[in-house]
Amino acid sequence: MYVNRRVIFYPHEAVLEAARRFPTPFFLYSEARLRENCRNFRKAFSTYFPDFKPLFAVKANANPDLLRIVQDEGFGFDCSSTAELFLAHLFDVEGMYTGNYVRREEFEYAIQNTRLILNLDDISALETVRDIGMPEALSLRINPGAHQSTSKLLVKQWSMSGVDAKYGIPFERASDAYSLAQSMGVKHFGIHMMTGSNVLDEDYFYFTTKKLLTIVAEIKQNTGVVIEFLNIGGGFGVPYRPCEHSINLNAVARNVHKAFKEVCARYELQPPRLYAEPGRYISADTGWLVGRVTSTKEGYKKFVGIDASSNDMPRPSIYDAYHHISIMNNARTRERVSVVGSICENNDQFARDRLLPSCASGDIVVIHNCGGHAYAMGHNYNNKLRHAEYLIRDSGKIDEIRKAETIEDLFRGTNLTGY
Ligand SMILES: Cc1ncc(COP(=O)(O)O)c(C=O)c1O
Repeated sequence: MYVNRRVIFYPHEAVLEAARRFPTPFFLYSEARLRENCRNFRKAFSTYFPDFKPLFAVKANANPDLLRIVQDEGFGFDCSSTAELFLAHLFDVEGMYTGNYVRREEFEYAIQNTRLILNLDDISALETVRDIGMPEALSLRINPGAHQSTSKLLVKQWSMSGVDAKYGIPFERASDAYSLAQSMGVKHFGIHMMTGSNVLDEDYFYFTTKKLLTIVAEIKQNTGVVIEFLNIGGGFGVPYRPCEHSINLNAVARNVHKAFKEVCARYELQPPRLYAEPGRYISADTGWLVGRVTSTKEGYKKFVGIDASSNDMPRPSIYDAYHHISIMNNARTRERVSVVGSICENNDQFARDRLLPSCASGDIVVIHNCGGHAYAMGHNYNNKLRHAEYLIRDSGKIDEIRKAETIEDLFRGTNLTGY
């Protein structure tokens, strides 16, 4: 059976050292892997698009030490909130700001404090931005519609566009939106889409890019507006299960290039500059959530309780997402167990009915693929505190890059005083 070594890998020695030095649970990240992912991504696209501009989707992981590494690897930022704009301001990076249903104050903050290009989700936002001060360069997020295909997989992957998606300007209204933007003084135009998440199929990127470029051609025909840059969004998948293949980024870049060649030749378009904004591909397999077994229970099923909970990493509880789990012990037997946290919610289960090495209280548990959309999605339900983050530097040194939250942090701002 095929086993993806990348999915099952974790840095044994560093996990042991960190678990010896620091209280569990915690997130542990690898600088080496983060840099490697950034380089692979850049290289794959730069081969076909020499002026390719990669952005990192800050929502996937906003730890400033990790962002510093990503910036050092030549990435700009893709931001989606005022706090992320604040980071873009501090880091003085280029990139884009993609909000949806945005407050005027957030646009003001972006325009006044950052170098990011605004990417507007709706025509109505044009007026708000004009009132603040229309920038010379502007991008619009387009909803390119649902995919028409006999392939169920391709249709399913276009999960963030079509009639049910809250994102983007319907593509049929794109020309009107660009005309209006032009009449409001915009000089340089971009276009953006984000149609799917965790896509492992290389062909998908050919179809989505082709669709967006065709829209670019229609806009030019209808309005004369020339789109200078095109952002294909994020969504580049990573394998979560050991049996899943990694996405072939070279094939993705080749497919995107094929779409450019075909559509640009057909409509006599000057190829726009290519942008992409991956989050998961860059960060997911750079991090692990490390905890310990607190107790085991023989109920109707066997439950293994650990000291991390779904508030630390909600993906399994929200999406029923699979995350690979390793138990650090020398057990010779295996058991079918459910690995659970201590929140009063029955979806607080990291794994259900999974065959794992038999374990006991104190054993170290490693949850894989927790570098992206993991800590970032965490919360405080049940008044659980958020845990610390550590980084394995290239030198092998392990640094604390975020302190564990305290009870004082949790109640800061309330009227709880003097107790
Ligand atoms: C607008 C936008 N760009 C980029 C991303 C990053 O997606 P991913 O981490 O799947 O690459 C997201 C994720 O939700 C997004 O909403």
